[in-house]
Amino acid sequence: MATSINPLVQDFLTRDAASVAGVEKLRFFPLVAESGNGTILVEPGGRELLDFSSSWTAGGLGYGNPIVTKAIIEAATNPPGFGGISAIHPDLVKLAELLLEIVPGESNRRVYIGNTGSDANDVVLRACRVNTGKSRVITFENSYHGGVGFAMGVSGVHVGTNATAAEGATFVPYPDSFRPHLGNIADSVADSLQRIQREFELGDVACLIMEPIQSDGGLIVPPLGFMKAVVGLCKEYEVLFICDEVKVGLGRTGLLHAFQRDEVVPDIVTFGKMLGGGLPLSAAVGPARILDGPTGSALMTAAGNPICVAAGIAALEVIISQDLTSQAETAGQRIRELFDQKVIELDISDVVGDVRGHGLAIGIDLVTDRATNNRNNDLARKTVYRAWELGVVVYYVGANVLEVTPPLTIQAHEIEHGVQIIAQAIADAKAGLVTDEMVAAFTGW
Ligand SMILES: Cc1ncc(COP(=O)(O)O)c(C=O)c1O
Repeated sequence: MATSINPLVQDFLTRDAASVAGVEKLRFFPLVAESGNGTILVEPGGRELLDFSSSWTAGGLGYGNPIVTKAIIEAATNPPGFGGISAIHPDLVKLAELLLEIVPGESNRRVYIGNTGSDANDVVLRACRVNTGKSRVITFENSYHGGVGFAMGVSGVHVGTNATAAEGATFVPYPDSFRPHLGNIADSVADSLQRIQREFELGDVACLIMEPIQSDGGLIVPPLGFMKAVVGLCKEYEVLFICDEVKVGLGRTGLLHAFQRDEVVPDIVTFGKMLGGGLPLSAAVGPARILDGPTGSALMTAAGNPICVAAGIAALEVIISQDLTSQAETAGQRIRELFDQKVIELDISDVVGDVRGHGLAIGIDLVTDRATNNRNNDLARKTVYRAWELGVVVYYVGANVLEVTPPLTIQAHEIEHGVQIIAQAIADAKAGLVTDEMVAAFTGW
């Protein structure tokens, strides 16, 4: 049974296949969006979809956020140049100052402002090496820190598949309560910490980089206290701790910074995605002794361009003044409550192994059966396809985990409707409504 795709959508699929490079494609279903507003994306022909991915969290403030849009238009009208590398402009300094204000840390810090999460991580990893004179980096298996360069080489997701590990990178297991790498979670946590300590004892470690929730690796939430223990080891062995808040930072987890759950203060924090309110913008906040030199060692022409920076200032103002952090916490609780009800109503508890996360960073772990909790990759692939057919955009991570990360501005009625569709999509995919042929063209991860 071939799926029927609207001819207007089909036309774009054909043109896209013949023009846009596959290296930048991660496709799960035939999504073509012509416009968007709030949580809604609109297909050619006018069909509306609820976006429960918010473009991998870059759209965390919703599409066309009026405050961000106004700031972008104003900044684009009389721009003071288009970059920050050889000219100072007021908004560039203001954004750096704002980030210093909202990110805790030592007194003498600097802010790197870049284009994407990948370059923020890449730049700080290099800076840690150069400025400590140490060459090694500790990172986690199945982590994601970027799609280019050094950041890609320390990303377990890439190194496990198509990329070469960065020289000097060592990967350790990220403790996973649902699938502990050693029989139980307590032993797994102890093992990860021991391995980190062993690497630190070997010496020459410049930094350790960690996601507070491992997102692309499968929305894995480390046990409370794990990050604190890692930070303790970093302090003891004088290793810089980089917290990568690119995906789940800035309110998404129900706290302004996800690292606050473990009451730690990282040496360096990186941001991206939602920071730009939809425009490409990233940042890293860290000690001056690490980020201030060598002068000019991380140059990108468009970094700090006034339009993205204005969007970033507006985005931070929206997050803080509208208390989107609390909104994310409340909306996340509602999604989980409703989803639990739907699991019972639709009789899908046999394939829903775990629902986890904080705030609006939620993972739904689909399994083959509850006895083994084996990953059900096929069901995840078909569920996201079916959800698209029914009108919701949701992707999967870690091969079998639906990643529910809608905009922080999501409305109550959108939660009701979206959760209903996601649960229905699981039920329909389980019932065989999506065939192998329908998903054949969409390889996903
Ligand atoms: C935790 C984390 N860090 C860094 C990145 C890289 O960000 P970008 O794709 O904006 O370069 C991502 C992207 O998914 C991410 O999830």
